[in-house]
Amino acid sequence: MKHPIHPMLVHFPLATWFLATMADIASLFTNEQTGWVAGVLLVVGTITALPAMMTGLLELGKIDQQSPAMRVANQHMILIMTSWSFYAVSLFLRLNGTQLEQPELAAIAFSILGFISLCSAGWLGGKLVYEYGVGIHTQKK
Ligand code: HEM
Repeated sequence: MKHPIHPMLVHFPLATWFLATMADIASLFTNEQTGWVAGVLLVVGTITALPAMMTGLLELGKIDQQSPAMRVANQHMILIMTSWSFYAVSLFLRLNGTQLEQPELAAIAFSILGFISLCSAGWLGGKLVYEYGVGIHTQKK
């Protein structure tokens, strides 16, 4: 494989988590259906993040332990795991058995926290690629 598979897989959780948070905020002003859509998006985001994490870990293993990129990669990983946890709690709070319910304020708050953490993690992911050249042939380490 000439380039990492990780960037291909990250779009699914990024898009669904982002839309879930937007739908959660919209649910404060609209009808019940918007909150339900947010719940479905959270399920998809939380599941599709798992293969993205696995491929990310494979890329992490290729970075030189002593390089400054390793510190940024660890920060990226911790923030992504924080996002995943916030979104998972948000999802859990709106579940009644296997039924998705209208999100309450706490569930929406966790969704917003997940999004803030996700933006920071995405920024660091971009830094890894565009500043340190991780995953690119001529790596600057
Ligand atoms: C927790 C395990 C993870 C680790 C160890 C990890 C590690 C990495 C590494 C090493 C890179 C740079 C090389 C590459 O692009 O393949 C990267 C880039 C990136 N990662 Fe992760 N990652 C993880 C999970 C995730 C998840 C779940 C997402 C999305 C929700 C994500 C979003 C990104 C983004 C947006 C980039 C920049 C890609 C680009 O601009 O081409 N990462 N990650």
